[in-house]
Amino acid sequence: MNLTAFQALDSRGVPTICAVLKIKNGTFTATVPSGTTTGKNEAVELRDGGKSFNGKGVSKAVQNVQDIAKKLPKDYSQDAVDNFLISLDATENKSKLGANTTLAISLVIAKANAAENNEPLFSYFSKLSRQTAKIPLPMACIASGDKHSGKCVSIQEFMLLPVKFSTFSACTQAIAEIYYELGKLTAKKTKEALFTDMEGGIVLPFTKAQPTLELITNAIDRAGYSGKVKLALDCAASEFYNEKTKIYNYEGRKLSSDKLSGVYFDLMRDFSIVSIEDPFHEEDFAAFAEFTKKTKPNITVVGDDLLTTNSTRITRAVLQGSCNALLLKPNQIGTVTETLEAAEMARNAGWKVIASHRSGDSEDPFLADLATGLACDAAKIGGPSRGERTAKYNRLLYLEKFHKLKLAKWNG
Ligand code: PGA
Ligand code: ZN
Repeated sequence: MNLTAFQALDSRGVPTICAVLKIKNGTFTATVPSGTTTGKNEAVELRDGGKSFNGKGVSKAVQNVQDIAKKLPKDYSQDAVDNFLISLDATENKSKLGANTTLAISLVIAKANAAENNEPLFSYFSKLSRQTAKIPLPMACIASGDKHSGKCVSIQEFMLLPVKFSTFSACTQAIAEIYYELGKLTAKKTKEALFTDMEGGIVLPFTKAQPTLELITNAIDRAGYSGKVKLALDCAASEFYNEKTKIYNYEGRKLSSDKLSGVYFDLMRDFSIVSIEDPFHEEDFAAFAEFTKKTKPNITVVGDDLLTTNSTRITRAVLQGSCNALLLKPNQIGTVTETLEAAEMARNAGWKVIASHRSGDSEDPFLADLATGLACDAAKIGGPSRGERTAKYNRLLYLEKFHKLKLAKWNG
């Protein structure tokens, strides 16, 4: 198999792996995304260490792809390749080969197989998952805090969820127009230049969630979308949890999970929030369960760091009732097949499935096809700026227009 790879850069300027596969139909590439606030139960990325690129080089992963290329099964089906990768690695968390190695191969195989079948990538994923393809609602990061913006709002992501539209293009227009309004409002509040955060939102001059949400709500109103565009949060609470003291350091206050839950209830009372991701730290299945029970059926509780797209953790969360939506990130688990399995488990439990980019992403739009083929309810694809984010918007706009696909509906 004519499969190789090279070290590319992600949107943070950090090395990432890009697999390159040549078949008679053409040459295909797949670039692997990478997180900044990664969950500790995620499959691990293989990095070189040492001095160059601050230890973040991926030349070992590139070498791995080249070595594995010689051994891959002659049957290039997704199953065969992914199962081969899983058994060759034979660890719980892909720590031998690296999840960046395995996902690069798995994704480029998906693209090549789709081309061999003469079908678009979304349709290939749709057949594999036995779902009727539909366009996911964009969950659009419009402002952020913590490690994604360098500002000290504890909550990591403030997102727009356009729930009252029938097309993805109308959703995109609403998001873009709100983004312009938020830019104007922010410019009035600060003398600093306007900065874009890691996921294409705007860095706001606040250190607290309350004024952040007020300004965003104001921008929604001014753009004429009140009632049509709701709010979603990614608290990424592991980032402000102290494992030693078992206390959350939220906006300078020391809070128990009970008190933190109270803070979220205040925010839900004051703003039109419909979805909350990772409200508690990544091992607190019980606090998640309590919160899911209390907020039912109004709030979608999304597990990201809690679940890490991992079937064992999803099973536990289903049994405990810890959430009602899965955040689906292929690089948390390392192969397309395992990503599909995670989505299926969540769906079987009656949960929503929300596909997600990473803070370190690339211009590769594969996530748009994956989310569409798997009929995800929504997809976190960032704000309407930065090329690696707009790549996903633009692919979804293309799929809607030229494949006549329907937009998902947000129930609840
Ligand atoms: P990450 O953040 O890509 O930096 O992990 C995204 C998220 O937490 O959803
Ligand atoms: Zn998250």
